[in-house]
Amino acid sequence: MDDLESLAGAIKRAETAVAFTGAGISAPSGVPTFRGDDGVWDRFDEGQFTYGRFRSDPEGFWEDRIELQRVMFDGEYEPNAGHEALADLGQTGHLEAILTQNTDGLHWDAADSRHGGDDPESELATEHDHDGTEILELHGNARRVRCVDCGTRSDGDPVFERAAEGEVPPQCDCGGVFKPDVVLFGEQLPGAVIQRARSLARESDVFLAVGSSLVVEPAASLPRLAASSGATVAVVNLESTPCDSIADVVCQADVTDVLPRLFDLVES
Ligand code: APR
Repeated sequence: MDDLESLAGAIKRAETAVAFTGAGISAPSGVPTFRGDDGVWDRFDEGQFTYGRFRSDPEGFWEDRIELQRVMFDGEYEPNAGHEALADLGQTGHLEAILTQNTDGLHWDAADSRHGGDDPESELATEHDHDGTEILELHGNARRVRCVDCGTRSDGDPVFERAAEGEVPPQCDCGGVFKPDVVLFGEQLPGAVIQRARSLARESDVFLAVGSSLVVEPAASLPRLAASSGATVAVVNLESTPCDSIADVVCQADVTDVLPRLFDLVES
């Protein structure tokens, strides 16, 4: 039995299977990854997008953020076969949750296009899609903005347009300043989000890490937490990761190849 067959067997038997995704699952959709060849951090410096800079130099932060949003999200990106395979696993009751570091919203699009789901509106930025799979956006959602004064969340497109036309930083009706609804460097993940992610990792029987270099904390410690709680841990990534040594299954392959095959094996 090869690794993928044994992983499919573990998913079939699992009470709680959890997927954890990074930029690599969206790369086949055209969204650039952060590290590796031509990564976002080759074109920008992380220091441009820290919470400290947002507070000390909101104009400069927003001018750079408009450029980053253009580079990362300007295309009409569609979910790919990797997103769809995870949505299908959810629809057949084999996936309890998707924890994603990605802020592109493509897991919602996949859930919606495959099975009808709604974008998250809740404070926790987690919601159950149509089939009850919980989608937890650990780093927020770049399609939204949030007022740092009154907390209002709203659609990001019109606000980014106003900023691109010179309203930097863009202002909320309350007079406060909008921030992209993502976790910036130097900013804490909302406590409820990381607590929920950690409890899912602890509860999981199978923890499937997909398309992440697994170097950014606290997210990157989730596979280790799952492993220490007795889960079968699998890593699907084009390159090696620091968690390969603790994984039961390592597939150095493309998500659009592995995940549909995994779904077919689980359903066979
Ligand atoms: N199939 C499988 N893996 C892929 C594919 C693919 N088609 N394309 C790229 N990858 C892998 C790369 O080899 C790389 O190891 O996806 C990984 C993406 O790693 P990163 O670019 O570091 O992205 P990620 O792990 O999501 O970064 C975590 O860092 O900058 C912060 O907030 C940002 O959420 C991000 C966090």
